[in-house]
Amino acid sequence: MAKSENIEWHHSEVTKEHRRQLNKHKSAVLWFTGLSGSGKSTISVELEKKLHNAGIRAFRLDGDNIRHGLNKNLGFSPEDRKENIRRIGEVSKLMVEAGLMTLTAFISPYREDRDGVRNLLGEGEFIEVFVDASIETCELRDPKGLYRKARKGEIKDFTGIDAPYEVPEVPEIIVNTDKQSMEESVKTIMTYLKKNGYIE
Ligand code: ADX
Repeated sequence: MAKSENIEWHHSEVTKEHRRQLNKHKSAVLWFTGLSGSGKSTISVELEKKLHNAGIRAFRLDGDNIRHGLNKNLGFSPEDRKENIRRIGEVSKLMVEAGLMTLTAFISPYREDRDGVRNLLGEGEFIEVFVDASIETCELRDPKGLYRKARKGEIKDFTGIDAPYEVPEVPEIIVNTDKQSMEESVKTIMTYLKKNGYIE
């Protein structure tokens, strides 16, 4: 809901296209989605490094990090998760305007919220990456000990335990971290980016 009135859009003379030409690569969002512990952060950290080392301007936004700052006033109710994703969608759009390959690592459990970001961006600018791992695997990994706490009832509304995760229907990329190594997942994404002309 927009509350501001009497506001006007001011166009820049330096456009997204100018920035892309300068960077010599396209800009888009790689939107990682999946359960906590599925591997979103690990894969996106490695991919960001790989892109950077290849001369591509890349920047990563991560759920846990963003919740320390910009989104520290949001919790894990459906409404707060929706607002979390809406804000990150807007931030991602700005980053794409700025010419960056943007990587986001948020559970983003609701299909509608992810599709909202897709619709905010232009054609080909939203690349949904489903980081698929079974709840059993994620719970075994439990890198932050949160599944254990959720099972004991110490954390409420935990995704996969007592809060939903809606699997993407037609993601651009699927990596299955039950079966694939981190290196294989990164390779799958790099191949997609090259094949589709995002990077050379
Ligand atoms: S999202 O659902 O709104 O997209 P986000 O990715 O920002 O979630 O944050 C998820 C991270 O917060 C998890 O990786 C985990 O470390 C932590 N967390 C704390 N409480 C919860 C919860 N109830 N459900 C899921 N993750 C939680």
